[in-house]
Amino acid sequence: MPDTAEARKAPASPATEDTTGLTGGAAQGPDYVIDEMISAKAIAARLEELCREIKQEFRETEQLVVVGLLRGSFIFIADLVREIDLPVEVDFLEVSSYGDAMESSREVRILKDLRGRIEGRDVLVVEDIVDTGHTMHHVHHLLESRLPRRLRTIALLDKPSRREVAFKADWTGFEIPDEFVVGYGIDYAQRNRNLPFIGKVRFPAEE
Ligand code: IMP
Ligand code: MG
Repeated sequence: MPDTAEARKAPASPATEDTTGLTGGAAQGPDYVIDEMISAKAIAARLEELCREIKQEFRETEQLVVVGLLRGSFIFIADLVREIDLPVEVDFLEVSSYGDAMESSREVRILKDLRGRIEGRDVLVVEDIVDTGHTMHHVHHLLESRLPRRLRTIALLDKPSRREVAFKADWTGFEIPDEFVVGYGIDYAQRNRNLPFIGKVRFPAEE
């Protein structure tokens, strides 16, 4: 993990009041700051390593179905497929997760199913974070029941200390401590997905 002494502060959102109405009750302006945890450069370097292994694993595939879990994986999957020069197609699955809270509801429901069939096919599921493990445990079980030829998983981040259900992705970008993170596609109440790095959320008022 990169040196946290290099932590960089970024404004959580414009300091002015949000008038878009899109952030609902959270429109009061930022009460948190974001400290950089994993730089964009470190993410890109790790991605290159992971993609080398993934290409090796699927080298004789006819067509690899890369399944992104919405919405947190959208940047990760975009970078990932561009590093894999194999015949790929992209599909998306959306399951319910935290809503706008920082705690998992633990109940996993399908909000948007895959468009395509995966029976007899090579499948790589792409997730942003494995936290309690409930989401990926459930998704793995669900997709396995559709009898793919080969089912593999990759998570950009893993918080092993938070696990409630056993699950380990075949590839993990970075193991991180029990911190709430944002950026590179990952949100806090729908904000901060567009940060190019991974940062941890901190509330100065609570310090
Ligand atoms: P799990 O079911 O508890 O493993 O939760 C997985 C989902 O929770 C991930 O797909 C994320 O969307 C969300 N999540 C877990 N940790 C964080 C975090 O630190 N920031 C933002 N979302 C998170
Ligand atoms: Mg998610």
